Amino acid sequence: MSESYEFVVVANRLPVDEVVADDGGRTWARSPGGLVSALQPIVRRQGGAWVGWTGQPGEAPEPFDADGMHLHPVALSAQDVERYYEGQSNSTIWPLFHDAVEQPAHRRPWRHAYDAVNRRFAEAAAQLAAPGGTVWVHDYQLMLVPAMLRDLRPDLQIGFFLHIPFPPVELFMQLPRRAELLRGLLGADLVGFQRPLAAQNFLQLTARLLGLEPQDEHVEHEGRTVVARAFPISIDVGEVEELATDPEVQAEARRMRAELGGDRRLLLGVDRLDYTKGIEQRLEAYGELLADGTVSNDDVVLVQVATPSRMRVQEYQELRARVEREVGRINGEFGAVGQAPVHYLFQSMNRAELVALYLAADVMVITPLRDGMNLVAKEYVVARGDDRGALVLSEFAGAAAELETAFLVNPHDVEDLKRVITEALHADDGEQAGRMRPMRTQVQQNDIDKWARDFLETLDSTGSTKPD
Ligand code: ADP
Ligand code: G6P
Repeated sequence: MSESYEFVVVANRLPVDEVVADDGGRTWARSPGGLVSALQPIVRRQGGAWVGWTGQPGEAPEPFDADGMHLHPVALSAQDVERYYEGQSNSTIWPLFHDAVEQPAHRRPWRHAYDAVNRRFAEAAAQLAAPGGTVWVHDYQLMLVPAMLRDLRPDLQIGFFLHIPFPPVELFMQLPRRAELLRGLLGADLVGFQRPLAAQNFLQLTARLLGLEPQDEHVEHEGRTVVARAFPISIDVGEVEELATDPEVQAEARRMRAELGGDRRLLLGVDRLDYTKGIEQRLEAYGELLADGTVSNDDVVLVQVATPSRMRVQEYQELRARVEREVGRINGEFGAVGQAPVHYLFQSMNRAELVALYLAADVMVITPLRDGMNLVAKEYVVARGDDRGALVLSEFAGAAAELETAFLVNPHDVEDLKRVITEALHADDGEQAGRMRPMRTQVQQNDIDKWARDFLETLDSTGSTKPD
């Protein structure tokens, strides 16, 4: 029998992404998104196997070891990518679970591909996990995996964590074959969510759809107890602090500020280019503040980093076009030679550059219409060990429940956005420190290691599923 692992993580993506150059050469880069930012340090420290996709269609590379992790690639054909990843995962489930801020699309072939690919992931995990081992399945792309895996390997402890919001019952009910998805999740011993409300939505759904009888945080299903609970995800505090106190990163922050115009206050946005992130609302508010003279191009500049994401999905292409048109309009109307009011970067960055930007920013503007957590918010407050800076944060980001002293805002209301951004720009040193300090302490005391420990210890104590 091939090597087996006590601890196996299963996620759509591996922590590294295969990058294919124009000349056909292949290299690896860090995968995008918060899931990888959060999980990578845990698996690296604890060891174990990671089952996931490389980000490229076609045959999977051979399994390999990197950074103390055993990486086990799962193959997705071009058709799987189109139907399972771009289709069912990112054009049906993603928008529906984010309050349907874009219209979810429903296609039968996508659902079949989703089933087939979930089965492939479940089979890979079943092969790799040691007898009685722990398998931790992640996110909306793989909601059928827990039940499939339990069928294959009833000896395992199975955890599932959803990184995105879980919708209210009425919205979930719109999904074709909704009961199958729910049964898929119920294959886990422990189902984790970002927010208590999400866990409640899930438990209510088990009653509504399957006639189960949830009690407190539990529900009995097929003779087992399934626990549903919130575990708000966090960041690798040590990594961000190390970068933020690195003299080279600090020098880079000073250089950035000087280049952007030493006296101008710096507003910063950092998001995957996704319609859930409220980038358009942010630009609209900023454009209006410039237009009505509340701020001017001489005293304020906005840096918007937009990480390329899911660029073959139509809604993302359309969003990119709209955002870039609006950036062009604002710069055209309010810019001057050599001085633009918006610096727009459509690119990935390395961690040091990103932290340098956090250090340079006077106001971090995070305005998602809906977001499971938002790790950028937590990274920003931890980076600001100097107690300076201000965080404008959407009430609709999971992070708002923990970062209570942020400048909270309703991003659906442009007037509110304008008011709160202005307030944040005017906060004096005392107010900045008074707000930043408790937020930083909150994240320091609840870092990613604590999150993983809480989840895995709860999973361990759930363990009612082991056969006699
Ligand atoms: P999501 O998971 O929806 O993308 P999060 O804010 O939770 O949103 O996580 C995003 C993660 O990606 C953070 O760890 C952030 O530092 C990282 N990130 C965001 N933009 C970039 C970028 N342009 N280059 C590199 N990393 C980025
Ligand atoms: C969010 C999702 C992750 C996903 C990431 C990047 O954080 O919760 O599951 O990996 O976005 O998106 P992508 O489609 O590029 O994997």
